[in-house]
Amino acid sequence: MVELNGKKINTAVFISGRGTNLKSLIEFSNKKNSLISIKLVICNKPRAKGLYYAKKSKIKIYLTNFKHKNLSEYRILKKLKKYKINLIALAGFMKILSSSFIKKFNKPILNIHPSLLPKYKGLNTHRRVLNNKEKFSGSTVHLVDAKLDSGKIILQKKIKILKSDNEKNLEQRILKIEHKLYPEAIEKLFSNP
Ligand code: GRF
Repeated sequence: MVELNGKKINTAVFISGRGTNLKSLIEFSNKKNSLISIKLVICNKPRAKGLYYAKKSKIKIYLTNFKHKNLSEYRILKKLKKYKINLIALAGFMKILSSSFIKKFNKPILNIHPSLLPKYKGLNTHRRVLNNKEKFSGSTVHLVDAKLDSGKIILQKKIKILKSDNEKNLEQRILKIEHKLYPEAIEKLFSNP
């Protein structure tokens, strides 16, 4: 586990798209007594909207397309070392990291997933939740292991599904929750070593 010694946790955020969770993590990192300092944003899509937030905050960006996964992961690991990264936060990152990468990094990797895990792993979560007429949904922050959307759950928040919910507004309602949940989960992870 990461030793803090009063220092901030050097963090890398991995994104593939819109980046609203990256935005909320940047805001969290800018708070006075924040635990984290975001040193690096890793992205596999050069046109990802979320890169705007990294640029605006002058955070270093590393782009790699994952066409050759081993090579991309090798290069990412080098960057993580260079920036002394102690925590990875996956935020809408659409690639699956290999078990060898996870092993070599050997520090916490978090992910946020828009469902009440272990239910509804994978894609099209909200559609599946609505089709199955679930009463509740939510979001989960968990540690990443070699399997998809599994690993120890750090924090989860549940909301009631409304009659008026469709895929789009359920996504928006959950996204709003995620923007608070991710920072809270990071605080929880490092307050219980
Ligand atoms: C979030 O709903 C997150 O749970 C999932 O992907 C979405 C990313 O949204 N893993 P954004 O790119 O942070 O806006």
